[in-house]
Amino acid sequence: MKNSPIKHIGVFTSGGDSPGMNAALYAIAKTAETKGIKVSGIRKGYEGLIDGDFIPLEAHELQKLTQKGGTILKTARSKRFMELEGRKKALQTLKANSIDALVAVGGDGTFKGLLAFSEICDIPFIGIPGTIDNDISGTDYTLGFDSAVNTAIENIDKIRDTAESHNRVFIVEVMGRDSGYIAIHSGLMSGADAILIPESGKDFIYLLDKIKNYNSEDAFLIVVSEGDEIGAELVASKIKEMNKEVDLRITRLGHVQRGGNPSALDRMLGIRLGVAAVNALLQGRKNIMAGVLNNQLHFTPFEDVVKQHQVNEELMKLLELFGK
Ligand code: F6P
Repeated sequence: MKNSPIKHIGVFTSGGDSPGMNAALYAIAKTAETKGIKVSGIRKGYEGLIDGDFIPLEAHELQKLTQKGGTILKTARSKRFMELEGRKKALQTLKANSIDALVAVGGDGTFKGLLAFSEICDIPFIGIPGTIDNDISGTDYTLGFDSAVNTAIENIDKIRDTAESHNRVFIVEVMGRDSGYIAIHSGLMSGADAILIPESGKDFIYLLDKIKNYNSEDAFLIVVSEGDEIGAELVASKIKEMNKEVDLRITRLGHVQRGGNPSALDRMLGIRLGVAAVNALLQGRKNIMAGVLNNQLHFTPFEDVVKQHQVNEELMKLLELFGK
């Protein structure tokens, strides 16, 4: 580790922002500083990598930002980086700025980008999973997931108050893209009557069966993942078809789930993974994602990270028991 050739690390956040990203940036800057390594922050994800939009990252400035949501480096989904031309330009920019290692914090798309970039660029990359969706293989949790679930629960609890006061059916749509993790967690922990997720094909049939017995003397809360194949609107119209008297509302929680101060768990995860990423680089490792499995640091090659992530069996059983 003493003779590591790494003297200058570039760091960026990419894809949807997620609470905990700033904590990871702080940990990266702090770890690098103690080893005498310079850190440059690359703004707006792959866009900044192409354009050379770099700023110095100082640990003391980041320390007080650990508690802040979003990402101080800003983020983007870059179309240009998907093209080989964009990646070649990024490579030139890295060389021109003497960057000899990269740490990227982001989701699925970020890892696909790193994998493609590794075909033309031989400097080492380490990834940190940062997305509220929790849809990344090789880690139990992604940065921001816990905070997003807490935000969703807080809001669903509020919706329950008004739903119970009016004896209404409420359909609450939560984020997650193609993953039902946020829906399962927020639905289970807010006592939803039904939870619909993309991974569970027949859940809509169960819902219709269950709601047949709904007697308008109570609230009925349905949490739907945005990626569910049926979707909030269609669920609403099917319920209305069965009973046009039903008093029903739809609430989309939307981007509120991405913002806010990170939870304690996300701050801690950001710190652990940030430190792990720099240490991995100094150990000469490359093209792997730092994650946590069974509460132990775990490194997964990018090829395995980008594989389709599945909801684990135990959670599916909980869904079966409580959400159908
Ligand atoms: O991947 C994170 C996420 O928040 C998804 O849950 C959601 O589908 C998507 O990003 C929304 O993206 P945008 O901010 O571009 O609308």
